Amino acid sequence: MKRDFLRLWDFTSEEITGIIERALALKSGVDANLCPLIGKSLWLLFEKPSTRTRISFEVGIYQLGGQSIYMKPSEIQIGRGESTADTARVLSRYLDGIIIRTFEHSKLEEFAANSDIPVINGLSDLHHPCQVLADLMTIKEKKGVIEGTRIAYIGDGNNVANSLMEAAGRMGLSLSIACPEGYEPDAVILEQARAGNGEIIILRDPKEAAGRADVIYTDVWVSMGQEGSAETKRKKFSAYQVNASLLACAKKDVIVMHCLPAHRGEEITDDVIDGPQSVVFDQAENRLHSQKALLEMLIR
Ligand code: CP
Ligand code: NVA
Repeated sequence: MKRDFLRLWDFTSEEITGIIERALALKSGVDANLCPLIGKSLWLLFEKPSTRTRISFEVGIYQLGGQSIYMKPSEIQIGRGESTADTARVLSRYLDGIIIRTFEHSKLEEFAANSDIPVINGLSDLHHPCQVLADLMTIKEKKGVIEGTRIAYIGDGNNVANSLMEAAGRMGLSLSIACPEGYEPDAVILEQARAGNGEIIILRDPKEAAGRADVIYTDVWVSMGQEGSAETKRKKFSAYQVNASLLACAKKDVIVMHCLPAHRGEEITDDVIDGPQSVVFDQAENRLHSQKALLEMLIR
């Protein structure tokens, strides 16, 4: 029975823990010569730009012995109106897995429902689960423990915030999301995640969130596809910058995370992202290791 990874909630806490442990082992060089994807082909369908997700998946697939195939949507028949369902049915006959970055989350669900091979969400408007796998790995690496870790997410209640809420529910994190009114994360995902093991608080004051945090996390104010609301959002979010004054309210050993790409000078300042508490480039590296562990688990 194939498994998909469309959202973090698709996996149990034991499965997530297993992926993180395996990712840390892979990072340390264990089994570097094992090639579990020999003879396997995976397709990347990206309808939005990407640096980290696309390259780390392509490199990870290669390192595991498989081949990745990338084509722009405009180069395939989807670009000329072939249905998602028909495309999924046909590609299941050639491939061993598909990684999709798209707008509507429902497109991923439709792809997964019509395909016999694992579908992995490389980011949708609602979720960014691969990012949050790497984030959890980074927290384990830097803090030694995941359960009970206090995360202050400062900024837009977007796809990354939604996936962090699911991580909180599954892994027992304490997550405080500080955002302006009207920019809260998805209400349905929040309710579901709150039924899990963690604690999720939505508040307005970034300093209140940062004061109790082990991790301060931020993401862009304007996500891909939201460019039309950029001016409004920049005004609304001006008090939500992760800067030296916010860090001064936090614990001395707080670490700073950002999924990247960063809009330096907007949601985060240069001195913070380049400062000693920032772990953002280790976090970005961990995309590679955590996705290799994910592929080992899913691709049969
Ligand atoms: N963090 C992340 O997903 O980056 P890319 O958009 O570059 O893939
Ligand atoms: N929230 C951002 C994440 C980018 C990796 C976006 O969707 O554009």
